[in-house]
Amino acid sequence: MKNKVIVTGGCGYIGSHTVVELIENQFEVVIFDNLSNSKEFVIDRIQQITGVRPQFEKVDLANEVEADLAFQKHADADSIINFAAYKAVGESVQKPIMYYKNNLYALINSIEAQKKYEIRNFIFSSSATVYGNPEVLPITEDQDTKRAFSAYGNSKKIAEEILEDFSRPNAEYKTISLRYFNPIGAHASGLIGELPSGVPNNLLPYITQCAVGILQELQVFGDDYDTKDGTAIRDYIHVVDLAKAHVKALQRLMQNQQDKNYEVFNLGTGNGFTVLDIIKTFETVAEMKLNYKIVDRRAGDVESLYASTQRAADKLNWKAELSLEDMIKSSWNWEQSYRASVTN
Ligand code: WQD
Repeated sequence: MKNKVIVTGGCGYIGSHTVVELIENQFEVVIFDNLSNSKEFVIDRIQQITGVRPQFEKVDLANEVEADLAFQKHADADSIINFAAYKAVGESVQKPIMYYKNNLYALINSIEAQKKYEIRNFIFSSSATVYGNPEVLPITEDQDTKRAFSAYGNSKKIAEEILEDFSRPNAEYKTISLRYFNPIGAHASGLIGELPSGVPNNLLPYITQCAVGILQELQVFGDDYDTKDGTAIRDYIHVVDLAKAHVKALQRLMQNQQDKNYEVFNLGTGNGFTVLDIIKTFETVAEMKLNYKIVDRRAGDVESLYASTQRAADKLNWKAELSLEDMIKSSWNWEQSYRASVTN
């Protein structure tokens, strides 16, 4: 076994943390990234953390010719982990074609290259957004997926369908889709973390940017949900736990442990926290008050979403280990160390 992995989007938030875990588990890593929403210095930081510099190809995977050349150069890889995608939910509602084109062309070009160069294992970065508004909680993987409100979310649902269709007549190719709940947190070193471009859409980067004074006020979207304090519930998961699950999924593929050649797993903690829980935990961890106000619900938001973690525990032998405090502490540590590094 060669243990060489191509990580598309490996300079991004979840990608970079996964590259660290892969290197620490002795995988040889090549990052494919067009740096459209990430920074090249992340590669230096990965080297600082692990002592190993991953190989890097600057490539736009939505471009068929460019993608083919890059895969051809690394045709000795045996696995692909696919993170390369646009991910801003609101922007995708405004620019759906841009999202479908980028996310689905990149996926299809990667699958074609996988077949052409016989790269047997594929892990896809999916999202709990494919469940829409769930009927039963915690959400198990066998619940129906639904058409998402946003083109971003729908691109994940369509991508899963493409991968499942590909897997049927291609028994020798093995795929796992990982459905992430709400990844937050950062590496303990403070060297890598989430780098949102523009004003963040997601809760945690919005909070930490408010706390350092970049943003003035956090808006809490709705306090009239049927929850303990009226704010919406999500399953927040530490990005380092999430990254470790990718290593487990890859090992499952490489050791031919799959029940079928296309599988899906939820990656969450199984615990639901409200927006106010997150704010209170942040205030405790950072020892400061956040400036926030309650506003109307955000269009497209669901009330409550948390994972059943059973399948991942049984089949991947993986369970999230880090607490909500760990997650928020590391997000806060990252925000502060990143701001210090850019102003020095
Ligand atoms: C969490 C909670 C908001 C911001 C989205 C995508 C999903 C995945 C992760 C990423 C909700 C509330 C948020 C704010 C708030 N994709 N909130 N004020 O919506 O669960 O999931 O991000 O690539 O596919 O849909 O995450 O962090 O935006 O929101 O009150 O300023 O925080 O209403 O209840 P979400 P989020």
